[in-house]
Amino acid sequence: MVDFRHLAAAAFVALLASSPAFASPELARSKNCVACHSIERKMIGPAYKAVAERYAKDEAALKTLSEKIMKGGGGNWGQMPMPPQPGVSPEEAEGLVKWILSQQ
Ligand code: HEC
Repeated sequence: MVDFRHLAAAAFVALLASSPAFASPELARSKNCVACHSIERKMIGPAYKAVAERYAKDEAALKTLSEKIMKGGGGNWGQMPMPPQPGVSPEEAEGLVKWILSQQ
């Protein structure tokens, strides 16, 4: 019988290995993304699951979303724009986008 827990653990390790060092919920917390976003539900900003769903087939999403994180912008989810996040480097922004897009 296959033990799925091992498979899941292996997949998780592979995921960690393939993403930049800080692509993690901790980074979202330390950059204060969690003040406006949650994984499961809409707060001030959209739920990360909803973001992942919307951009699942969008190959440009990594680039457009990481730019949006750094520069801010609005019009995709509602009236409220996202403020620029000057404390987020391009590498960190890409890491965050990869993590967000993996929330499905
Ligand atoms: C002050 C509140 C606030 C903070 C802090 C914030 N966001 Fe947002 N975010 C928003 C809002 C509002 C939107 C919706 C913008 C729109 O409608 O286009 C959004 C949208 C997004 C989107 C989707 C963009 C799109 O065009 O579909 C991503 C990805 C995202 N945020 C990631 C982050 C990350 C990562 C951080 C932390 C570095 C962060 N946000 C911090 C409010 C915030």
